[in-house]
Amino acid sequence: MRICMAGALGRMGRRILELSAATPDLAVGAAFDLPQHEGTEIQVGAESGKAQTVKLAKDAAAALANADVLIDFTSPEAALTNVAACAQAGKPVLVGTTGLNDEQKARLAEFARRIPIVFAPNTSVGVNLLFKLTQQVAKTLGLDFNVEITETHHNQKVDAPSGTAIRLAECAAEGLGLKYPDDAVFGREGLTGKRPARQIGVHAIRGGDVVGDHTVAFIGQGERLELTHKAHSRDTFARGALVAARFAAKAKPGLYDMQDVLGLK
Ligand SMILES: NC(=O)c1ccc[n+]([C@@H]2O[C@H](COP(=O)([O-])OP(=O)(O)OC[C@H]3O[C@@H](n4cnc5c(N)ncnc54)[C@H](O)[C@@H]3O)[C@@H](O)[C@H]2O)c1
Repeated sequence: MRICMAGALGRMGRRILELSAATPDLAVGAAFDLPQHEGTEIQVGAESGKAQTVKLAKDAAAALANADVLIDFTSPEAALTNVAACAQAGKPVLVGTTGLNDEQKARLAEFARRIPIVFAPNTSVGVNLLFKLTQQVAKTLGLDFNVEITETHHNQKVDAPSGTAIRLAECAAEGLGLKYPDDAVFGREGLTGKRPARQIGVHAIRGGDVVGDHTVAFIGQGERLELTHKAHSRDTFARGALVAARFAAKAKPGLYDMQDVLGLK
């Protein structure tokens, strides 16, 4: 399967290209970044001893002829332009880009009538399993166990809590029959009073170079269960992106997410 990488010069794009070059059933068919980088030559695959030179195309329209699936890690606006090009060319696409607004998500759904689109703002396999487990465990243990979510990220991160922690709180809320964000509390300070049972705590820690840790604690009387995911590097997301791209390449037109990709629905 030949991939086309949109955002080839970015942090995620470079890792996805590197891992694609190293993976036997994948090939780097094409890649592009901003149009001014057209013609730039980049080396990929050196880490796995399969070094190759990739010449960047101008844009999706120019690149897609040489690819079976597009992988997009760019910006919301660019992602929509690239998905439009995929729809035009009849090619499947994985959108890993985050931050799409409701209108942009609605446009994705429109394009998904014509081509397969996987929209996966978190492509980590482990995190997506954690979403599922959190919902199941919350439902099983119920309100006798207090749910407290802790996330840790590097000191360059500008938002809190992380999107993943928010999704985990939503999953816990679904399992407990609570509402997010109405029943969530973000950190505690001062005379907070006793902790109500109908509450989900969400806490953000920032420091150093942590790629991303998330723990969901279910704390009961005399025991507690903790589910933890730790991302060691961006390769976590890059590997998940390749799994999702393989899924997209074989899927019928429609809008899918990582729960579909992993068979967790
Ligand atoms: N799905 C996940 O698990 C996951 C993981 C990490 C990051 N992300 C998201 O992926 C996106 C990219 O992240 P990053 O860390 O690689 O960012 P980055 O800024 O390092 O890379 C983005 C790249 O896209 C390029 N780009 C911008 N506009 C473009 C256009 N119109 N056409 C082609 N290329 C264009 C930029 O020049 C840049 O090289 C962000 O939205 C980020 O939040 C998702």
